[in-house]
Amino acid sequence: MKLVNACIGENGDITDAKERTGIWAWKHPHSDGSVTYQRQEGDVLLENVNFGYEPEKPVLFDVSLYAKPGQKVAFVGSTGAGKTTITNLLNRFYDISQGKIRYDGINIQKIKKDDLRRSLGMVLQDTNLFTGTVMENIRYGKLDATDEECMEAGKRANADTFIRMLPEGYQTVLTGDGSGLSQGQRQLISIARAAVADPPVMILDEATSSIDTRTEAIVQKGMDALMQGRTVFVIAHRLSTVRNADVIMVLEHGHIIERGNHADLLAQKGKYYQLYTGAFELE
Ligand SMILES: Nc1ncnc2c1ncn2[C@@H]1O[C@H](COP(=O)(O)OP(=O)(O)OP(=O)(O)O)[C@@H](O)[C@H]1O
Ligand SMILES: [Mg+2]
Repeated sequence: MKLVNACIGENGDITDAKERTGIWAWKHPHSDGSVTYQRQEGDVLLENVNFGYEPEKPVLFDVSLYAKPGQKVAFVGSTGAGKTTITNLLNRFYDISQGKIRYDGINIQKIKKDDLRRSLGMVLQDTNLFTGTVMENIRYGKLDATDEECMEAGKRANADTFIRMLPEGYQTVLTGDGSGLSQGQRQLISIARAAVADPPVMILDEATSSIDTRTEAIVQKGMDALMQGRTVFVIAHRLSTVRNADVIMVLEHGHIIERGNHADLLAQKGKYYQLYTGAFELE
């Protein structure tokens, strides 16, 4: 199963496009040699997923969830609960042995890993910047992006102001994986990278306390802009993100123990309520 650039004809027919159209489709090859196309929407289903990094040590137990296109799903829970593990499974850093994960109804094990990862934007806590200019680092999200597109993404990510203050602006060379920048600044560049890729599904791992409040507000705004109109899985540390999520999954020891929106979960007076009333940092 491949992800291809697609055109949609007047009658709704989907075909391969040579140019980048901003529309993506899954190309299904069939045993008789024919192919069919299915528009990429961004719905994600996990069904009874069990997983352990080592067979004798299960980490996730019977995890089921459904994210409709455009929905925001937030994961909260204590350290080691399994939040990052769920995202590792979505992008197939690890494959599950039990249960199903479907993306637009397709079993993700049938999707080429490169295509899958291209279709999932990721902004992780440990950003992976490389030695090269800021522009090149942003362009990594979409290799054929023009300078204008990269700068446009910088603006949308709320990163443009700080980038323009660097000695050479977008042409500033980052050395040592961006070690000369703060964590918040590195994250802004990786948000811009995700913005230029413009994927329908995003995985965000929010930064924690090591960012100063002002930078945090800037990063938050960039993330909010990026989340618009996409299916988003966010490992949330900030209360504002959690409050705005369509559905919050509370994980404990690999089990989803509570699910619902902020108001529902507060009313349940369970673990979420404890987290919420106990501390503002949901870690
Ligand atoms: N690569 C790995 N190999 C083996 N065990 C792992 C690996 N990554 C995580 N684990 C284990 O899986 C469990 C869940 O870890 P996970 O990273 O998903 O937690 P988390 O909820 O993201 O925690 P945190 O809030 O600290 O990031 C933990 O017991 C952890 O020790
Ligand atoms: Mg984690």
